[in-house]
Amino acid sequence: MASTNIYACESMTKTDTIKLRNRHIGKSCQLFYRSDPLKIIRGEGQYMFDEEGTRYLDCINNVAHVGHCHPKVVEAARAQIGLISTNNRFLHDELVKCAQKLTSKMPGDLSVCFFVNSGSEANDLALRLARYYTKQKDVITLDHAYHGHLTSVMEISPYKFNKPGGDPKPDFVHVASCPDTYRGRYNVKNCPDQDLCKLYTTEVDEIIKNIKSNGKGVAAFIAESLQSCGGQIIPPAGYFDSIYRSVREAGGVTIADEVQVGFGRVGTHYFAFETQHVIPDIVTVAKPMGNGHPVGAVVTTPKIAERFATSGVAYFNTYGGNPVSCAIANAVMDVIDEEKLQENALIVGQYLLENSLQLMKEFEMVGDVRGTGLFVGIELVKSKECRQAATAEANAIVDRMKNVHHILISSDGPDDNVLKLKPPMVFNIENAKEFLTAIRECLGQYQSTEKKSISAPQTNGVCNLPSNHKFTEKKEILVK
Ligand SMILES: Cc1ncc(COP(=O)(O)O)c(C=O)c1O
Repeated sequence: MASTNIYACESMTKTDTIKLRNRHIGKSCQLFYRSDPLKIIRGEGQYMFDEEGTRYLDCINNVAHVGHCHPKVVEAARAQIGLISTNNRFLHDELVKCAQKLTSKMPGDLSVCFFVNSGSEANDLALRLARYYTKQKDVITLDHAYHGHLTSVMEISPYKFNKPGGDPKPDFVHVASCPDTYRGRYNVKNCPDQDLCKLYTTEVDEIIKNIKSNGKGVAAFIAESLQSCGGQIIPPAGYFDSIYRSVREAGGVTIADEVQVGFGRVGTHYFAFETQHVIPDIVTVAKPMGNGHPVGAVVTTPKIAERFATSGVAYFNTYGGNPVSCAIANAVMDVIDEEKLQENALIVGQYLLENSLQLMKEFEMVGDVRGTGLFVGIELVKSKECRQAATAEANAIVDRMKNVHHILISSDGPDDNVLKLKPPMVFNIENAKEFLTAIRECLGQYQSTEKKSISAPQTNGVCNLPSNHKFTEKKEILVK
């Protein structure tokens, strides 16, 4: 497309940007679509635009929660930075209003906030609170979990430490199976007629028993309320309730990581842990809270916060809770309410989910479709019978969606075979239809419809791709 768009970036060609990036940015900072990366120069609502003005439908940006560059959020930032931005050792109304607004969305006793700048910082602080409260160090985490890039949270992130080259798991970290009932350790296929929830929660009970028998105690159990890195996992009903009971009985605290899934995304509730009818002791939030601006928080009970204060070590964070970040977070929470974005997630999410479920009937490759609100996963397998991960196909479809349809989706899960959707909350029915038309076309490219494939199932591990297909270099991580 010709670069006639008024927003086109005249200053540097994409090639020059890549050259400078290669020279000055650490190689471990990976790009989306590495063989043909996108240069995005502006965003609006659920759309992103490249340097040539090409519009992409954004189905992956749960950070731009209320839509890219929402005018109310932009104005809140502009107005506050023109007045003052300083640290939270000065009184400021935006800070206390933000804490009031955020805790008003939380159930139970979750009424005290600590502000931070990112999800990693939030989880790091949550661990400190838990460890100080319990005087224990051991943490139970879920397989495939990702809780951030700081050393402390990398230690509890199997998604990272189990990768080749990852640091070994510390002894004080205990990993329970991810409650994936489709292809997880216990699933409807290998454990038919069994109580899958019980199988998964019993594992955590065993871990607790082992920790105790080694003369130690439990500091915390941490989990995403719906595990996104694990491949858009919806735990079985009753899962968290059972684990929270066991962890509390053992003297530990429960941490819900809502960094990806909070703020109405699940449609039915403001926070995803509410779908399991539990109240955590500590909740961590970030990404959507700032709509692209770095702001996060740890929310906990007065009891845990007060105990932390007795350490005598002050909590100071230069930027955490600064007036600009808080003004932005306040604007984001206002927009969610004013524009009824939680309700939108429920309605559009339902449409998306129902129609994606239809894909299971049409395509042998679509093994499972799951989700709630605007959090949806489409799991691709070689065949419904074998449930072998269709990783190459998933990667190829992510590429084709971008190259042919200008729709951005990602893939994830332990075998990188789950197509993930977590679009900005302004995603509408038309967008869902556009996605469904495109994904049908892509699925059709890579696999025959059920009728044909039933007679010739892809169970030999050979990828059913056109011989001329060019793969994007395998990415390590596309979730964030
Ligand atoms: C579930 C979860 N927790 C924590 C983090 C870390 O957040 P941040 O990248 O803001 O440090 C992430 C980031 O992707 C995440 O997905």
